[in-house]
Amino acid sequence: IARNFSSSSAVQSAIKNVTVIGGGLMGSGIAQAGQNVTLVDVNSEVLVKAQKSIGNNLGRVAKKIYKENPQEGEKFVAEALGRIKTSSDPVAAVKSTDLVVEAIVENLAVKHDLFKKLDAAAPSHAIMASNTSSLFGGLHFFNPVPVMRLLEVVRGAETSEGTYATMMEWGKAVGKTCITCKDTPGFVVNRLLVPYICEAIRLYERGDASARDIDIAMKLGAGYPMGPLELADYVGLDTNKFILDGWFKKYPEQALFKPIPLLNKLVSEGKLGVKTGEGFYKYE
Ligand code: CAA
Ligand code: NAD
Repeated sequence: IARNFSSSSAVQSAIKNVTVIGGGLMGSGIAQAGQNVTLVDVNSEVLVKAQKSIGNNLGRVAKKIYKENPQEGEKFVAEALGRIKTSSDPVAAVKSTDLVVEAIVENLAVKHDLFKKLDAAAPSHAIMASNTSSLFGGLHFFNPVPVMRLLEVVRGAETSEGTYATMMEWGKAVGKTCITCKDTPGFVVNRLLVPYICEAIRLYERGDASARDIDIAMKLGAGYPMGPLELADYVGLDTNKFILDGWFKKYPEQALFKPIPLLNKLVSEGKLGVKTGEGFYKYE
């Protein structure tokens, strides 16, 4: 995680100010990885929660790095937190930005509406990237952002060589290993991971095995760090549903993308997983 605060001089000159829009699960993690960041959310309670969670995560890092010197650790946390500003006004926040990483709700119409406004307000050189799980090009981080080492750099048909090179450099500067992929549904990781999670939900829905046994099976039988239903709860069942619904709308003939009644039911009951305290499992 300490690597997240290293910097390459080339990128430092191209990317000085980063704006992360959406301060939820992903946005708060991405803000922690960046350098001079403004974190934006329409909900100011989310921003307070995000700052708290970033502070806690930095505290964990400081404890490890500055084991012998807690005072230095406190300084490290204060300095890192000081580089993260917050705002509830996306348009004002991008006025002097070099890079925008959008991490709001997985809904194409809402994202388009936001980008239209940002595009009009940001400087012309600013790079606009999305952390979308499945919709279009950009910079795709993984949850939990401070721990997962991958960044998918999505190169759309209209992404210029310069923008692509800057995104790759910035990804490296914030400590990630970057892979490049085309702008296709789910890119690489989610194109493989989401159908796997969905098949696990269908298996459970059919009553073929209990949730616990499905998760144990994949952890002990396939070496995954989390079982698929635990992972679904961790990602957020709403996000899983948004991804699947988007794909189904576009590719209704693809059996893997068909809606899952149990997933829809849990989401309609507000059982979104870890973030709401209940999904396939209950959380304190
Ligand atoms: N923030 C910062 N650090 C965290 C953290 C968080 N949220 N969660 C865990 N950590 C750190 C811990 O401090 C610990 O660090 P040390 O080893 O240095 O002490 C380390 O990560 C391991 O944590 P734990 O011992 O608490 O727990 P664990 O070993 O069970 O690991 C996990 C937790 C990393 C989340 C692991 O279970 C895992 O890799 N799960 C799978 C996650 C995954 O598949 N993510 C991708 C989801 S898909 C996605 O993101 C794309 C999308 O678009 C939907
Ligand atoms: P989340 O629900 O935790 O956070 C989304 C935040 O965006 C909320 O705090 C909400 O208030 C805010 N928001 C909504 N509309 C907004 C707007 N117009 N302007 C500013 N803020 C707005 O969701 P998340 O899990 O962080 O996911 C965010 C994005 O990242 C989605 O596109 C998702 O697909 C993608 N993603 C999620 C994961 C994951 O594991 N959850 C992993 C990678 C990518």
